[in-house]
This record gives sequence, structure tokens and C-alpha cells, in this order.
Amino acid sequence: MKYTINGESHSETPRPGQCLRTFLRDAAHFEVKKGCDAGDCGACSVLVDGTPVHSCIFPAQRINGHDVTTVAGLGTPDDLHPMQQAFVDNFGFQCGFCTAGMIVTASTLTPDDLDDLPRTMKGNLCRCTGYRAIRDAITQGVTPPADSNQLSAHSNHSCADSNQFCADSNSVGRAVTPPAARRVVTGTEPYTFDTSITDLRYLRVLGSPHPHARILAIDTTAAARVDGVELILTHENVPATRFSTARHEHREDDPDDTRILDDVVRFVGQRVAAVVATTAAAAEDACRLIEVTYEPLPAVFDPEEARSAGAPRLHPDRTPADRVAHADRNTVVAFHEGLGGDIEAALADSPVTISGAWRTSRVAHAQLETHGALGWLDDDGRLVIRSSTQVPFLVRDELAHILDLPAEQIRVLTARVGGGFGGKQELLTEDLVALAVLRTGKPCAYEMSRTEEMTRTTYRHPFRVAVDLGADTCGRLTALKIDVLSDTGAYGNHAIGVLFHGCAESVSVYNCPVKHVDAEVVYTNNPPSGAFRGYGLGQVIFAIESALDELAVELDLDPFQLRRINAVADGDPLLIAHPEPEADMVYGSYGLDKCLDLAQRALLRGSGIEPPQGPQWRVGEGMALAAIATMAPRGHISRARVSVGADGIYDVGVGTAEFGNGTTTVHTQIAATTLDTTPERIRLHHGDTDAADYDTGAFASAGITVAGKALHAACTSLREKLIDAAATITGAAPDLVILGPDGAFVGERLVSFGELTATAGTDGRVVADGEENGDLRSIAFNVHAFRVAVNTDTGAVRILQSVHSADAGTVINPQQCLGQVEGGVAQAIGSSLYEEVMLDNGVPQTPVFRTYRVPQMADIPTTEVYFADTSDDLGPFGAKSMSESPYNPVAPALANAIRRAIGVRPDELPMSRDRIWRLLPHDEFFG
Ligand code: FES
Repeated sequence: MKYTINGESHSETPRPGQCLRTFLRDAAHFEVKKGCDAGDCGACSVLVDGTPVHSCIFPAQRINGHDVTTVAGLGTPDDLHPMQQAFVDNFGFQCGFCTAGMIVTASTLTPDDLDDLPRTMKGNLCRCTGYRAIRDAITQGVTPPADSNQLSAHSNHSCADSNQFCADSNSVGRAVTPPAARRVVTGTEPYTFDTSITDLRYLRVLGSPHPHARILAIDTTAAARVDGVELILTHENVPATRFSTARHEHREDDPDDTRILDDVVRFVGQRVAAVVATTAAAAEDACRLIEVTYEPLPAVFDPEEARSAGAPRLHPDRTPADRVAHADRNTVVAFHEGLGGDIEAALADSPVTISGAWRTSRVAHAQLETHGALGWLDDDGRLVIRSSTQVPFLVRDELAHILDLPAEQIRVLTARVGGGFGGKQELLTEDLVALAVLRTGKPCAYEMSRTEEMTRTTYRHPFRVAVDLGADTCGRLTALKIDVLSDTGAYGNHAIGVLFHGCAESVSVYNCPVKHVDAEVVYTNNPPSGAFRGYGLGQVIFAIESALDELAVELDLDPFQLRRINAVADGDPLLIAHPEPEADMVYGSYGLDKCLDLAQRALLRGSGIEPPQGPQWRVGEGMALAAIATMAPRGHISRARVSVGADGIYDVGVGTAEFGNGTTTVHTQIAATTLDTTPERIRLHHGDTDAADYDTGAFASAGITVAGKALHAACTSLREKLIDAAATITGAAPDLVILGPDGAFVGERLVSFGELTATAGTDGRVVADGEENGDLRSIAFNVHAFRVAVNTDTGAVRILQSVHSADAGTVINPQQCLGQVEGGVAQAIGSSLYEEVMLDNGVPQTPVFRTYRVPQMADIPTTEVYFADTSDDLGPFGAKSMSESPYNPVAPALANAIRRAIGVRPDELPMSRDRIWRLLPHDEFFG
């Protein structure tokens, strides 16, 4: 064979049947990403003779005589292709896992293609951005401005018109480019599996075909005979320690109901055995040859049925000591609380009452990088795990617990993580890889396929939420009662936290004299649910905000005004369903009033988009609000370290991981601003238990409010040390530099602190630490509003205007925060209108992107985003978190707009075309 890759001639022959993607990755072209295996996502896009193809379904043999170009062949970090430059300029990525393929496809476009960009780009999915930034980037890349370094200004929010953000002398408030941007757009930023390891072993997993069964016997004889097989793991030869795949600061937050490999399987796909072999093919062949004798057990799939008498019990031996409240009725936890008196009497006495029940669906995270881990032993014999995790320290500590190893014997690190959305706050691959490495002494990789990702990881908890509201005739709430039932599936990972959090800020955001919450989460034989953006709030907010809107309809009140009447004002106690507010919740700032005003004004202005013509189109407007605490309760810890040495570079160690949430960017900005230097002088070390001090991890939107705050403290301490050193040694010297012990330049000007000269200590470095324990939490607010047109012939919903206002405190990076909001809104639009994991008696029916529909570019409208002018007392530089919260008000705002359009209220997610059509009062419309 003869062909070129990025201009270089090659002649190696692919393996029979090998796809181009694996052929290229085997040749260390890690810029070609693996997202799906089926030609659905486009992360693996390359050019063959200038034409974009999905290399995962393109036979490698077919490149004979042709030229292959990957994103690395388009440009380098020092010499970007115009399209790569445009993606940098426009913040066209978050996790960046889709970016290489996106740029490859976009590099072939002409100005004519811009007219129909959504169709042209439909083969490239992005789960993070919501596509607006990508559309802007592609437009600039196809038709570059005269000055290609010019940042595109976006809609209402750019640095130039945000007076609270811009500062000439520091970087907080500016749209600082992510440090990894040039590497991401050229494919040179490594992700979990983008590394060459010699002598690598491959791990594959055999899954259960039964939703509930006892394993009577496992015969691995035939599997062990497969050439290359070195290890087979079953429940008979792995530690029996029970744990939870969910990771939290306190491991007691979740039930110990899971084993590495169990002798009872409780959902279809649950891992039964694992094979480690010298090739992936050998490991897969061996999995097929393992003979398992099962005793099928009765299964239950409906959560209501699961808690009824006589239902099959999933974990009959678990007890409250394992954090399983009532194993005899499949209940992980239940609570029944109220404040203000008799809720039924309050409802009965209320002049107006609204009642209803709402259901939310099972949703997949669908991040483009699947779960996986690589492991090896380092030179000292320590176990090293490189994982696609959001929580490296928590994974390390739980591996130590499960494997009975000292934590110091384990190092867990991340490369850049290709998206997570909560799904990677679980320990799903690292335990098997760790065992494989420890047993074989060889490096080992376990990378989930897309189908494994969609069937063996976790989903968003489906909720059923009944709401009863009472109000006076002016709309003031007199009674608020919710009854929540959550389906945790086969295991209780995150079951308790999601239930409690779901019933927290959704209820406490409203003042009401009498409140009552009944809530329960139960096991079923469905695949496990888990942490998902919003952490339960979105489900309950969908119900409460829908009920509020129905109250507004009933009383003919403006829905914004109804919220102003009832929502907490600045300083009001945040009461859930007990008389005392949560002790650690405070108002570091308050921006709900501004958010309501911003969204309402935008809706009144309109978008200029006219509804489609015809009597079948009905137009409606709807809104909803959401509140969220800016970090998890009961402690979320980060310890940051910063040092400066003779090279003048500030080394910053923060343990949290970057998975598209933008922490590497904002942490760089926080450090640069605090130390009064430029972002270029900040060298960040993150996501590595050896390279940074402890951090609970990247979840609960804590990247700024916890890790960022710890970093701010460390940088402030370093700054003070430098000032002290200067004062001790030289007093107020006139120089504008800090000198090391050898007289070399150490630090930049510290104009904020006077004109100083300082030494850097005898070891050449000045070191400072900072810590944040998450003792106090602030609260952030979001409001979303829609104008929609609904087609009464088909049930189709068309979004005419989408408006989002956010109370993010000081916005540290406006473009990046804008992207977080847009991405959260886009993900929520998907799960509101069509995304749904379909199960048939527990068997997933949507195991690939072809059947589980992630929004494409064509599906997502531009959202107008407005930031309330607030500054938080708790957050660094006045910032609050804004990763999860934009997701939460979207579904009810859409439902409320649809309700206003068609006169019938949707009560189930997703509000798919067929569901809306069935709701329609056809007699009324059609006679
Ligand atoms: Fe597109 Fe993450 S940036 S998938």
C-alpha cells in the first residue's frame, strides 16, 4: 500500500477489517478521536483526498493511493489553519473532544455552505457548547475578517459592554483564551487514551443478559484457552468489599450496595466477568466463551410497583448501616417533613388550589468521550490510574478502600476529560483496571464502547413529582406540598443526594407559610441512575414551575409577577420543609429580581422571528425560574498550592479536573489577577493526586466557588509572603521586580502592593497554600423564557425566542460562562423535547447515538443570554457557580410556553412531537 498521512508517505498495511480510525490511532494519530464506533458523532472525522469521512466506518484498506489529512495536518499550535484560529477566537469548544472532527469537516466549507450550515454539519455532534460558538467560529473560518485575531463579539454580552467585568490590569472579567486552546484545535491536547504505552493489555467485560438473576456457576475454561488471555476476573476472585460507584466527599453519603463483580446481577448489562488479554480482539473473543449459569429472579421495573408489598427485593440483605433505609420495600431513603402546620388543612383553606403530577424521563449524559481508564505500575511499584474521571482524589481513596491499599500507594490522574456532566462522578472502570494491573503487573486499558457507555454507566434519575399548591386570590402561596418518587435503578449511587437536593432549592426558593415534602427513592431492575447536571433539581423544578404557571393561568396573573410575589427576596430564610433554614446557606449576593426583569424585558422586545404561517400554528410564551446552591452541602474541600521560582513562572497546583467546565481557564485568570501578572506566566497542574493537594473534585459546580476560592487564598498568601520578604530584606525598594537568591528574575511587577524587591527564599521558590472547606454556600438564580409555535397537525414545537438570565455574580470569563449557559440550555432543550433512554423490561433500546438522539446543530436555536449585575461576598472576585444551573428552568419554561400555545399542559418529559400531538384537543381544533 502507498498513501500519505498529513503529507508524509506511508506503506504500512492495516489489519484485515480494520477501520481507518483505529489504524490512525494505532499509529499515534491521537488527534483522531473515538466517540461512537458507528459514524454517528463525527469526532473521528478526517479528510480523504480533501473529502471529510467518518474514519470509524471507513475501511483503512481504502486509503491505498490516497491522501489522508487529520486536524493535525491542517495546522500546528504555532501555525493555525484559519478554521482552527476561528475556533480559538470564538471559544468554539468546551471539553474539546468534538473539536478536531468538527474543524476537519468545517475546513472544507465554502461561503455558499454557510446558508445551510446545520445540514452541512449534521454529521458532527457537540454535547457541550450548544453550537452557537461553533457556528460563529465556522462563519469566521470560512470568511475570515481582515484581522483574523479579532475576537467575535457576541450578542448582548462581550467584554466591551460589561462594565462590571473589564479591567485593564488584570484578567478576571476578560474573555481570556483557554490555555489549551491551540492544542485542542490542533488535536495535540491529550485526552485519557491519547498516549502510547508499550506492552499494553486490554480489558473487556461480559455483561448480564438478565435484569435480575443469581449466578450459579461461571466456567472460564474455554475463555482461558484463547491465545493472549492472561486474566479472567469473576466474583469468585475479586475483593468482596461493598462500596458505591458514586463518589462524594463523605463516602457514607451513598449506600454500600455494589461489588466489583457480584454473584447477583440486578440489571441488563451489569458486569459479570472481565477478561484481560494482549489484544482487544482476544479479550472480546474470550468474553463470548465464558459460560455462565444463571438462576433468573423476578424483576421489577416500575418504581411504584417496586415499593409495594410483594415486589421482588433487590438488596434484601442491606441495612440502614449500609445506608439502605428499608430493603424490604426497596427503599434507599424516604423522608416526610413539613413546616407551618397541617398541609391538608392549609390546602383545604386555600381559596385557589392547583394539583398535578409530572414525570421526567431517563436521560443519558452522552458526553463524547466514553468512560475509561489506563493503569500501570510506576518505577516504585505504585499503582497509577489515568482515568476519565471528574474526581481523581475520591477515586484514589475509594480504590484504596476496595483494594485494601494505602492511599499513598495509588496515584490517580486525568488528562483533559472529554465531557462528564456528572456521569464521571462515578467509579465505573478504575477498579477493574487496578485489579488487572496489580494481578498481571502489566499496563492495562479499559475504554468503554459507545454501547457500553449507553447501557453500563448511569442515567439521570427519572422522577414522578406530584404537586399541590394553595394560594389566595392575589396569587400569594398559602400551601405547597410535593410528593416525589425517584427511580435509582439497580444501585443506589447518588440516590440519596439527588433526592435531597432535588427537594431543596426547588422548594426553598418560594416563601410559603405551610410546606410539606414526601420523598422516596427506590431500587428497580432498571440500569442505575446517577449524578446528572442539576442533580435532581431539574426534575422537581419541572413540576413546581409547571404548577406555578397553572396557578398564574387560573388567576390570570402575569407569570413573572407571580414569581415576584412568591419567590424569596434578598435575606429571606431559605426554608425547605423544616422550620429552620439550612445553617450553611447564605445570600452572598441576590440577583433573582434582576434575572426576572432581564428575561421579561427580552421577551417583550421579541426576537424578530415570526411564527410559521397557517392556522395549524399556535404561539405561546412561557417562563420558569430556578435556584441552586453554589456548592454541595456538608463540605467540599480544596487545597491549592502556588509557588514562584527563579524562572518567573507561577506553578499552580489545583486538584480538580478539567472536563469542559473551564476551570483551567478561570483558575489561570484567578491566579494571574491575584498575583498581578499575565495568564502566560501561570503554569497549572491539575487533576493529579501527585501533582496537587487534595480536592474533592469537579462536581456540584464547585470549580470556581471551592477550588477557585482555595486558589485565590493561596495566591493571596503568596503575594503577602513576597511583600513581607521584600519589606524584611530591602524595605520599600524602588525596583519593580522580585529577585531570586541568585539575583535572577522571579516575579513580575506587583504594582498593587508598592514597588518591591524580594528574594525568593533559599530554595529558590516561594510557596503558599490556600484552602476552602465549603463551610458556607451562596445561592445563584436562573430564569428562562421561551416563545414557541406549536403545530397542531403534527405536535411539532418550534422555538421562536429563547432567553436566559443568570445570576452568576462576577463573571470571570464572559465568553466561557456564556458557553456554559448555552451548553446547559442546549442539553436541556434536548431532554425536554426528544431525548429519552428507552427501556423494554429493563433492556436498553437506545444503545447508540443513532437511536438516542443528541441535539444536532439544526435543533438548537440561539439563546439570548443576560447576566445579572451582582457580586457575591463568598465567591472569589465575587463569582458564583454557573455550570449546572442553566439546565434547570428550561423544561418548565418550554412546557409553560407550550401550555399557553395549545391550552393543554404537558406533564411528561420529553415533550416529544407524538406526546404533544396526543395532548391536543383535536375535537376543538378540528371539529
Ligand atoms: Fe463539543 Fe465537548 S466541546 S463535545
